[in-house]
Amino acid sequence: MPREPVYLTTPLFYVNAEPHLGHTYVTLVADVLGRFWRARNRPVFVLTGTDEHGDKIAQAAAAAGVSPREHADRVSGIFRSTWDAAGLRYDHFIRTTDSYHVAFVQKVLADIHAKGDIYFGGYRGLYCFGCERFYQERELVDGLCPDHRVAPTELAEENYFFRMSAYQERLVATLEANPALIVPEGYRREVLSLLREPIGDLCISRPKSRLAWGIELPFDSRYVTYVWFDALLNYVSALVHLGRMELWPAAEHLIGKDILKAHAVFWPTMLMAAGLPLYRRLCVHGHWQMQQGKMSKSLGNVVRPLDMKARYGMDAFRYYLLREMAFGQDAEFSEEALVARLNGDLANGLGNLASRVLAMQQRYFGGVVQPLAPEAADHALRAAFAAAARELDAHIADLAFHRGLEAVWRALDHANKYVVETAPFTLAKDPVRLPRVGAILHELCEALRTAAQLLAPFLPETAERLAGLLGLPATRLGELDLPWGAAFAPGHRTLAPEALFPRVEVSAA
Ligand code: MSP
Repeated sequence: MPREPVYLTTPLFYVNAEPHLGHTYVTLVADVLGRFWRARNRPVFVLTGTDEHGDKIAQAAAAAGVSPREHADRVSGIFRSTWDAAGLRYDHFIRTTDSYHVAFVQKVLADIHAKGDIYFGGYRGLYCFGCERFYQERELVDGLCPDHRVAPTELAEENYFFRMSAYQERLVATLEANPALIVPEGYRREVLSLLREPIGDLCISRPKSRLAWGIELPFDSRYVTYVWFDALLNYVSALVHLGRMELWPAAEHLIGKDILKAHAVFWPTMLMAAGLPLYRRLCVHGHWQMQQGKMSKSLGNVVRPLDMKARYGMDAFRYYLLREMAFGQDAEFSEEALVARLNGDLANGLGNLASRVLAMQQRYFGGVVQPLAPEAADHALRAAFAAAARELDAHIADLAFHRGLEAVWRALDHANKYVVETAPFTLAKDPVRLPRVGAILHELCEALRTAAQLLAPFLPETAERLAGLLGLPATRLGELDLPWGAAFAPGHRTLAPEALFPRVEVSAA
């Protein structure tokens, strides 16, 4: 049976800011899931890119004194080169200014218009320029936009509307019938409660007199398309462009909770109107908070991924982000906590185990791996790693990255205890016991090999280095079914230890 594909998407990032912690987190999750499923032989496709039209971008370009196009080219390039430098993998990078995307948006607009689900009407409403949307009175807090805390401007305009309300009932029924469509569950409930009120129709045009930086409506050149109606279509336009529409219903959208409504209400109703099936799953994560509250340029607390990479190494940064945040919930970012994880879990837990095993292997056997001879304690060690592998699979299917890593660390702790309990360094003093020492070290090399395989999606550089130190080619990391004992043929040599993680002094943070 052909394996079911996994199509992972990140939000398309606005080009009004450079890549920071939040953008990095969601792109990292896509990278990890991509590596995880690829290693399990599922065909994977990861899509990311930039959202380049609309007021926000036009304003950012004006502030920088350049044209929107020049501005978008520059910042989109920074996103792309940052992901490349950070080792975050994607299969395609889409820009909403790409001509194939523009043509696709216009085609969908024309189809939905022809079908009668887009109509022209007068509108008077309260508009927030920051959010680029109209607000209803009851959504305001003390008369102010809840996000930007500014009074919305009253605008009277004639515009085009998408008959979103016509799909409300079908959307509710779909959400009720598919409990796993939006995860974690709390977000599905949030959407269902929002849908208890009439959702109304969606204003999908902006007059050019007010905003020219957008995709022109195919049926009225006086207007451009509302930026969300444009951007959401990227998830399909990229596939049409690449001839990969077989991936469509396999889509798993990764998003932050800030853009839940657009993905849980606008997007599914747009798909219904366009006659396309729904995505497989909407995966919603929480926000990183800073100790001072929000991350902002003015507070000077913006976390840049490449600074973190330079200071701690990309793998330590990756580990911290995945281990610290429960997917779906908010978490607080702190460099002290990152350093504690680096020195504790990584340097002490994993790094130390690797150096001890490789050092003994070198000292007692010149690196040559000795035959196995299982005893009771060895079976327990194997069982600990088998359990970690099973638990990791279950947790990753639920997006519980922190729990998955915890499970691997339980097995590593077991291995560290096994070293203490079997005491090969003591046994080695007696030449008669040397075969047992060799067997213990072989078990531990297998433990390290398994750890490298399980951790490869999360800590790709470390996993490769560890495999290299064990004398194994990196391709071995993908052989998840390799039985215990099969990795090291007679005469196989491991290398001299190297520190996998340099400890960081707390004061340096
Ligand atoms: N352009 C829209 C998305 C269009 S998708 C068709 C947009 N862009 S954004 O640049 O603002 O990126 C928003 C996403 O970045 C969030 O949904 C989230 O994934 C990530 N984050 C931005 N700040 C964040 C935090 N402080 N914490 C975690 N992630 C957040 O919205």
